[in-house]
Amino acid sequence: MKNTPRTAGVLSLAVLALAAASAQAQITFRNVTDGSTLNLSDAREEGRDTPGVKQFLETGRNPYNSKPACLKQGEDLMLTACSACHGHYAEGKIGPSLTDDYWTYPEGKTDEGLFSIIFGGARAQMGPQYLSLTLDEMLQVMAWVRHIYHGPVEAADWMTDEERKAYKPWSPDQKLEVPDGAVCAP
Ligand code: HEC
Repeated sequence: MKNTPRTAGVLSLAVLALAAASAQAQITFRNVTDGSTLNLSDAREEGRDTPGVKQFLETGRNPYNSKPACLKQGEDLMLTACSACHGHYAEGKIGPSLTDDYWTYPEGKTDEGLFSIIFGGARAQMGPQYLSLTLDEMLQVMAWVRHIYHGPVEAADWMTDEERKAYKPWSPDQKLEVPDGAVCAP
């Protein structure tokens, strides 16, 4: 094959197509109210490249679910960033309950969708949270939201089969045991 301008052009098109395909391997997150693409480069600089965030952006599953150290941090974040509107235990206040099986946006039943709601916001007072929380913190708060769920297990689309088997509806008197020295990591 002679390297004419034409073959060079075809080759560079092929390279472009490959680059596009690998970029698409990451999930496209969408705003739940208008379907517009969420621009993750709007996220805060810190907490953007953690191993947990990287894993989540590739798989759409929150690796912090059920990880005690992440749950503890997620609980603290919920109290400062969400509870004024959603209630102490996200039982519902100005914003709806996040712990039963009713979802205004059924997308919230997957980690990918829950993240999209938190990152990009919804209607009324539910503004986008990407300026107040880092991506890593969003995953921590999401893990806490999943942890305090107490609806029927069949409606919990985000759970793995293992999590389904181990599921016990949460109640406020449950103590969270965080092993000494545990850090939040996938
Ligand atoms: C200023 C008040 C306010 C704050 C702060 C707030 N929310 Fe909301 N949230 C709302 C309101 C109001 C809605 C209902 C919006 C709608 O229906 O479009 C909502 C909706 C949601 C939904 C969709 C629920 C469903 O049933 O589909 C999720 C998930 C959510 N919020 C999570 C969070 C999390 C997590 C935080 C903290 C990081 C947070 N919100 C902070 C007011 C708030």
